[in-house]
Amino acid sequence: MDFELKSLHLSQVATQEADALIVLWPDAADAVTASAAPDDALMRWATAAVADADIDKAVGSLLLAHRLPGVQARKVALVRSGDASPAATRKAVLAAVGALKLGSNKRLLLWAGEVSAGALAALLQATADASYSYTTTKSKAQPRSLQHVLVGVHDATALQGAFAQARATVKAVEWAKEWANRPPNHATPTLLAEAAQQLAQGKRLQVEVLGPQDVTKLGMGAYLAVAQGAEEPLRFIVLRYQGAPKASAPVVLVGKGITFDTGGISLKPGPEMDEMKFDMSGAAAVLGTFVALAELQPALNVVGLVPCCENMPDGRAVKPGDVVTSLSGQTIEILNTDAEGRLILCDALTYAERFKPRALIDVATLTGACVIALGNLRAGLYSNRDELAQALQAAGDATLDPCWRMPLDDEYEEGLKSNFADMANIAGRPAGSVTAAKFLQKFVAPEQAWAHLDIAGVAWKGGAAKGATGRPVALLLQYLLDEAARMAKESAQAPQAAAGAKRRKR
Ligand code: BES
Ligand code: MN
Ligand code: ZN
Repeated sequence: MDFELKSLHLSQVATQEADALIVLWPDAADAVTASAAPDDALMRWATAAVADADIDKAVGSLLLAHRLPGVQARKVALVRSGDASPAATRKAVLAAVGALKLGSNKRLLLWAGEVSAGALAALLQATADASYSYTTTKSKAQPRSLQHVLVGVHDATALQGAFAQARATVKAVEWAKEWANRPPNHATPTLLAEAAQQLAQGKRLQVEVLGPQDVTKLGMGAYLAVAQGAEEPLRFIVLRYQGAPKASAPVVLVGKGITFDTGGISLKPGPEMDEMKFDMSGAAAVLGTFVALAELQPALNVVGLVPCCENMPDGRAVKPGDVVTSLSGQTIEILNTDAEGRLILCDALTYAERFKPRALIDVATLTGACVIALGNLRAGLYSNRDELAQALQAAGDATLDPCWRMPLDDEYEEGLKSNFADMANIAGRPAGSVTAAKFLQKFVAPEQAWAHLDIAGVAWKGGAAKGATGRPVALLLQYLLDEAARMAKESAQAPQAAAGAKRRKR
């Protein structure tokens, strides 16, 4: 699917070539147009419908028309977009694309008029989401409903940057969705590593893939313990994007890549166990983010660390009670083999130290408890730095990929005590998402700015619409672009600051 942005006035929309047309109608348009006495067919139809109150005011309410005289597109949807905020725009677009029942390979013209950068991004993501369908492991080719989307706005030039970012985000989100959706036998650690290698052919990207021997040599005993019950060999993916000078400290992203989580010897119950193929959604999000970095080429360095393996029960599998030594040297009593995410992440967090990150952010479908706490709207956000937490929360709010800060009081760590190792890998049932975060924090130096996103509730949808969401790619990318902008601003100010210091000396 491709997107195009064009400056169009509503009066020009009727003559544009398209199979279907969506006209977004914000509340603000009511007053202006009723008095403007429009003379083109489309405007007459829309303003009359609004004036006659034949379209409800609620966001997403719509009116459909077929073969409107004077309008090229066969199907037209007039849809209410309320205050034209990103959230309202998304709702309106999802409703309209759904109602149009487009069939396949269609060309859509979406008229958005006066639209903000955030609403434009929401609009692109919503059309992509509404027309996405997973096809990779189906035997018959199923073309996508939308082939081309032309977005008409008042001023395309002013929105060029926002449009480029939105388009790259959509592509990255789809990459993450695709890999998270793939069945576990089609998304093994080896296959994920190959996908990362493909991805690394992009500009300024570099990849390194470590296997079982490398990881053993390094001493990642916690990660190895999880992988040892599986026939599929583990893969540790190290992906780097260099958009700034080598010496510039990178943001390091870590993604949980459990390509299937049976629970191990602490076996999960059967119902819905298939959904544990999504347990590599953190990995998919981190890798997917690099798709957009390759496209947008922002001026900062980013490292992606993605530990991948299966969590399987087997004669050689790790057992409840086993004690292992992590890369950090700390020992861990594995009381529950189903708390495996933190075991692979803790070694990746220690590995991250060598990059001296300006910020270290891990992303993981870590706990069912987080789903109970926050549902599927906001991801759980944990951080040892207020500034980093605020930046991530703002990035999530701006991209409709929101998260919510959770506590890290040391008292929560009590339950992780062990009689036989430095710590246990589980605490009691209360605050399960928090105690998992406290476990991870034991592997991060207090001087290191760190954040953890528990995406267990937001990475996929269950039920009839079962499938990956591609979250939190949009949040991560927005954060990285904001960070690049902050860095640019700092370095622009730095020479002046230095000059100022010199002047004061004299
Ligand atoms: N991958 C799961 C977390 C999960 C569960 C995500 C359900 C989404 C839905 C994780 O590895 C896990 O099994 N966590 C356990 C931890 C427990 C044993 C302390 C959990 O949440 O039950
Ligand atoms: Mn588990
Ligand atoms: Zn898991």
